Amino acid sequence: MNLSHTQRDWFNSRHAREALATLDVAALPQHIAIIMDGNGRWAKKQGKPRLFGHKAGVASVREMIGSCVELHIAYLTIYSFSAENWNRPQDEVSGIMKLFVEVLAREIANLNRQNVRVKLIGKVDDLPQCTRDAFAECVQSTAANTGLTLVVALNYGARQDLCQAATTLAADAVAGTLDSADITPEMIASRLSTAGIPDPDLLIRTSGESRLSNFLLFEAAYTELYFTDILWPDFGRDALVDALREYQGRERRFGGLS
Ligand code: IPE
Ligand code: IPE
Ligand code: MG
Repeated sequence: MNLSHTQRDWFNSRHAREALATLDVAALPQHIAIIMDGNGRWAKKQGKPRLFGHKAGVASVREMIGSCVELHIAYLTIYSFSAENWNRPQDEVSGIMKLFVEVLAREIANLNRQNVRVKLIGKVDDLPQCTRDAFAECVQSTAANTGLTLVVALNYGARQDLCQAATTLAADAVAGTLDSADITPEMIASRLSTAGIPDPDLLIRTSGESRLSNFLLFEAAYTELYFTDILWPDFGRDALVDALREYQGRERRFGGLS
């Protein structure tokens, strides 16, 4: 496995071995979802513009990808831009869109080296052409990889995704290929942009906010939620290990009895 020097250093350090020894590697989540929040406040604390925080947040994303690869996590979903984030000042939105293009151009080789497959969820059609092109290239270039699946939620909103799922079901009902009385949760799941991806086991939100902000509302029905005050650019491997340790201490019942 190819890891950057910093990653290798961390995973080989005594500190890491001690941290990882507190985890049951056989009972790690299959799917981790993250609401990467707090970039703006992180930048503001240092008197810098908000985009500075978004740029700093990229290092945390890289660190999470490396950690998930190392821990053999199957799916990592990152909330990168919500359907509601268009309501931000135009210069912040265009700065974020440009940042995606820069980061993808720089990281595509690393993703391939780490055997990471990239998938997108969300309404990609409404993104600027350069951002769409950069993601399309990344998805295509990593499509055959068999390691971690990195699901990038981009212009994503769970309610909007549920609406488009309902639209396709309604169209089938009108066409007569589906009886509307027979619609099941599994059928709805199969029309969402997350179709084929297992539900998240653990959902992490940084920055002290305790809400889902229109993220994976259907899929997170039985997901374990973990909230931390750490701002996203400060969220690193140790913080991930803390979240995993807490997850492993939880009892998941799915409505049944233990
Ligand atoms: C999360 O950080 C990144 C995006 C929503 C794109 P924020 O930009 O929301 O940071 P805060 O919440 O304002 O600190
Ligand atoms: C959620 O964070 C969206 C992303 C992290 C991409 P927001 O900062 O947009 O959420 P609210 O507005 O605080 O709920
Ligand atoms: Mg925020």
